[in-house]
Amino acid sequence: MIVAGCDIGSTTAKAVILDDSTIIATILLPVEGSPKDAALLLLSSVQEKTGIQPSQIEAWCGTGYGQKNIPYASIVESEIVCHAKGIQFIDSDVRTIIDIGGQDAKVCRIDAYGNVQRYVYNDKCASGTGRFLEITADVLEVPITELAILDAKGVKEVTLSNQCVVFAETEVISLLNSGEDMGNIVKGLHRALASRVASLALSIGVEEKIAFTGGVAHNAGMVGALERVLKTKLVVHEYCQMMGALGAALIAQERIKNRVAS
Ligand SMILES: Nc1ncnc2c1ncn2[C@@H]1O[C@H](COP(=O)(O)OP(=O)(O)OP(=O)(O)O)[C@@H](O)[C@H]1O
Ligand SMILES: [Mg+2]
Repeated sequence: MIVAGCDIGSTTAKAVILDDSTIIATILLPVEGSPKDAALLLLSSVQEKTGIQPSQIEAWCGTGYGQKNIPYASIVESEIVCHAKGIQFIDSDVRTIIDIGGQDAKVCRIDAYGNVQRYVYNDKCASGTGRFLEITADVLEVPITELAILDAKGVKEVTLSNQCVVFAETEVISLLNSGEDMGNIVKGLHRALASRVASLALSIGVEEKIAFTGGVAHNAGMVGALERVLKTKLVVHEYCQMMGALGAALIAQERIKNRVAS
């Protein structure tokens, strides 16, 4: 049985195609234009890149910021529930999920069955999300993927005194002008974001194992900073950015199985 999950985030659109318990394809595209445009582009990309026709997919479950704008999704589920389902499939010992995406950060606690117990969001302030790193990478004139390399070269975490992303931008410029090492600045930026996300996590209490999901988890510098602040090793899977779409695909599969059984 082939099913699919689709996560239309604020920054990227993701699809995971599942054949029973095997992930047969994953697709990731940037969101340009409306969520509906991104959803339609994702569908044509699935066809093009995998050869799987829409008629072969028994059900789509949609999630993410644009979840209501996916014309082909017959099921819709919240991102929190989808990340929980996805991570439970990957590592059933995980009890806390930290998801840092392009526009928000979410923390959720789950039980042994992957049910969500508590959750908290930051979708108000860019300084606690992946947007903070995107803005500061622009100021440093480096691609976002290079932040981890710079972090590894840093020898100390520069302390940033400004919480607000607008003032942090100015602070980064003046640090650069004063000759501060880029690696140390990036280490400081990662530390600042990690501290804000850790405060969010601690507001609902964290229980190990802790998984880090969302695109920002690809950044090894951020992983290290969060591990230092939380004083524990994090579970970071190669599908960290796909976790919501994977969970959505698993939910689609469950619904079909329940329908067949009843
Ligand atoms: N290799 C990488 N190194 C560093 N950052 C990365 C990498 N890949 C993706 N990112 C960052 O991940 C973020 C996007 O993550 P994700 O796809 O989880 O967001 P989203 O689901 O669209 O957003 P949201 O959940 O906030 O609506 C961007 O800020 C991007 O810069
Ligand atoms: Mg997301």
